[in-house]
Amino acid sequence: MFPVILAIESSCDETSAAVLKNNAILSNVISSQYFHKEFGGIVPELASRAHIKTIDRIVNKAIEESGIDKHTINCVAATAGPGLIGSLLVGYNYGRSFALSRNIPFIPVNHIESHLFSSFIGHDKINFPFIALVVSGGHTLLFHVRGINSFKVLGETQDDAAGEAFDKVAKMLGLAYPGGPEIDRLALDGNENYHKFPSAKVKGKIYDFSFSGVKTSVLYFLRRNFPDNKNIPLSDICASFQKSVVSSLIEKTKLAADEFGIKMITVSGGVSANSKLRKEFKKLEQRGYNIYFPEKKYSTDNAAMIGYIAYLKINESKNQIQEANILEEAFAKFKH
Ligand code: KG4
Ligand code: ZN
Repeated sequence: MFPVILAIESSCDETSAAVLKNNAILSNVISSQYFHKEFGGIVPELASRAHIKTIDRIVNKAIEESGIDKHTINCVAATAGPGLIGSLLVGYNYGRSFALSRNIPFIPVNHIESHLFSSFIGHDKINFPFIALVVSGGHTLLFHVRGINSFKVLGETQDDAAGEAFDKVAKMLGLAYPGGPEIDRLALDGNENYHKFPSAKVKGKIYDFSFSGVKTSVLYFLRRNFPDNKNIPLSDICASFQKSVVSSLIEKTKLAADEFGIKMITVSGGVSANSKLRKEFKKLEQRGYNIYFPEKKYSTDNAAMIGYIAYLKINESKNQIQEANILEEAFAKFKH
């Protein structure tokens, strides 16, 4: 018997459900809570209420689109954290109840770990070891990955996450939330050498990141040069800010890859959808590095990546798995 996984993601402002058969994504339905735009950021209480309203419809849609018979689902995976607690609880409890009521195993998933492996969705195999950069709205982490359950954090942000910096700078510029895609779009027509915004170094921690400095320097630049908020060259500022963030992400990732003698690099999480980041990382391929990104639909939050890491864990040795008791059941069920 093989795993037919119902996967659920609700850690932030996306309600998402997916169905996987082994590692094949049969469906991946995402409902984004666009109403947060009017508040300029996510309102946690409203996010959680919206998840409650949406989750049943999204799960049923994912099952329907997958074309499978609901009764063949033999495993449920849901994001257990990190994320907004009120939002997490909705998807987690829905998934747990779904599993309990059918007496099938439930796999709690770590959201960052799911981003970490999302670059391999749709690939036949994973080439270990690799250096992984995970850049999202809440996290910026650099990993040395040796196996499914074997990875080490090399560095992380000391302050804002990269996505958070994109969102905050976008807000300063009067752009809509989430700001990353807006900055990405405007930067396409901008001059990235318009102004040099500094990318901060973190003393003594070569793989750590810091983005609050560049964010503040945009703020002071705007105050100094455009005190009346008029005629701001949006595209140029977006391109210059983006250049600073992207170069710091690439510099540290490459440093880690070189130190560990690893040519294989993955870049995932919401910010990995950024076109400049993709373009600059891809340039490293000319210098012998192998660069993997998730497909854009798997960059930002989605349930397919939750199901995918659950699949990988099911496939992996049971001894190394945290939720051993739950997963042992999964193994027993799948080994026929
Ligand atoms: O992974 P994700 O969907 O959610 C978290 O786990 O946080 O990442 C969301 C973040 C937001 O900060 C958003 O602005 C950023 O990813 N983002 C982008 C782009 N698309 C999404 N940042 C830069 N360029 C993009 N194209
Ligand atoms: Zn995420």
